[in-house]
Amino acid sequence: MKIDKCRVCNEGLREFMTYGKMPIANGFLKEKVEDEYHFEMSPAFCSSCFSLQLVEQPDAEQMFHDEYAFFSRQSKFMQIHFKGYADWVLENYSQQGDDFIVEIGSNDGIMLENFAKKNIKHLGVDPSANVVEVARSFGVQSQVSFFGYETSKQIVNDYGKASAIISANVMCHLPDLNDIAKGAFNLLNDKGVLIFEDPYLGSMLEKVSYDQIYDEHVYIFSAISVKNIFGNHGFELINLLPQETHGGSMRYVFAKKGARDIQPIVNEIVQNELDNNFDKPSTYEKFKENCELSKTRLLKILTDAKNNGLSVAGYGATSKSTTILNYCGIGPDLIDFISDTTPIKQNTLTPGKHIPVKSYEYFKENIPDVIILFAWNHANEIIEKEKGSINKDVKWITHLPFFEVGI
Ligand code: TMP
Ligand code: ZN
Repeated sequence: MKIDKCRVCNEGLREFMTYGKMPIANGFLKEKVEDEYHFEMSPAFCSSCFSLQLVEQPDAEQMFHDEYAFFSRQSKFMQIHFKGYADWVLENYSQQGDDFIVEIGSNDGIMLENFAKKNIKHLGVDPSANVVEVARSFGVQSQVSFFGYETSKQIVNDYGKASAIISANVMCHLPDLNDIAKGAFNLLNDKGVLIFEDPYLGSMLEKVSYDQIYDEHVYIFSAISVKNIFGNHGFELINLLPQETHGGSMRYVFAKKGARDIQPIVNEIVQNELDNNFDKPSTYEKFKENCELSKTRLLKILTDAKNNGLSVAGYGATSKSTTILNYCGIGPDLIDFISDTTPIKQNTLTPGKHIPVKSYEYFKENIPDVIILFAWNHANEIIEKEKGSINKDVKWITHLPFFEVGI
């Protein structure tokens, strides 16, 4: 659905650029199709609530369905990260014997498993039946549904009020944040907290990591935007924790107004965002220029490689790579194949540009001259794995102008 008013506050939106026609980021194809679904991907800035959002987003059913290709358990590093997240929630916000943790977008149970193992009451909510099935097989109580006010009433009815609602890399997927906030307020008890982490706008602007924007990511959050959005529903931003994950994320903690102390870091980060003009349209005009420069740079690297007879392969058929490939117009003429460890992505074609996705084993037998690291947000984990195992003089690159792959 395309909008011309801010999804959150209904005020004027400023569309500052377009990435052009985009397919579904996780819509890997078993074979070429003529009528592949595309939508116009244009981010816009709301100068009233300061949110950055897409003006058009495909229907949720197009993206989150029973064949959803994303399983969080793929990454060892993320398993460790989510254990740390779960421990942190308990250390800081446990209500001792009264804990009931609800996760929005619980995927394959990678986070809630940490609560399940401690016999803490929990519930995962996720719209994709295939991932919920995996979660259950790990002993994680889960239900297949979208979260919102209606679901919150059902959960209160079936299980009682929650001490914490948590989520990771999910909140920025949800278009109707007013309904989420209303549902969260209804589900939480008086001292309850709403905690979520998502890719951080500040990191995206700094790194020019425009590939954070794709169909699922309808918002890219900043502290000033979420403070406004959830503030309108009786919540107060009480804590912030910057994260390394997903190329730079932020963990936000909200409590019901007046229920808990506000940590000093909240004002520090809010002030830093204002000092860096996150509330001004000019910041987004500058970002647009940086995206165009990044595109020119990447196309030059890849065409030079081609002209020099070098083979090029991608590492990680990430959702983010769909934005890069389609925005820059990069197909199989410039990248021979992309390696990915996820079985259901293997032997498919990438959305829109139709680059073959191959297994990691295929990659090891066909090491190219140039490797473009699409899973750049997992660089440390990947470099650790690949260091010393590739017996060839390869060049690692990314689309990011300020990022060196240290191998
Ligand atoms: P993400 O950036 O959205 O987390 O997706 C990462 C993708 O990269 C996922 O499809 C798995 C793939 N991947 C590999 O192929 N090899 C790796 O070593 C890692 C960490 C990820
Ligand atoms: Zn707004």
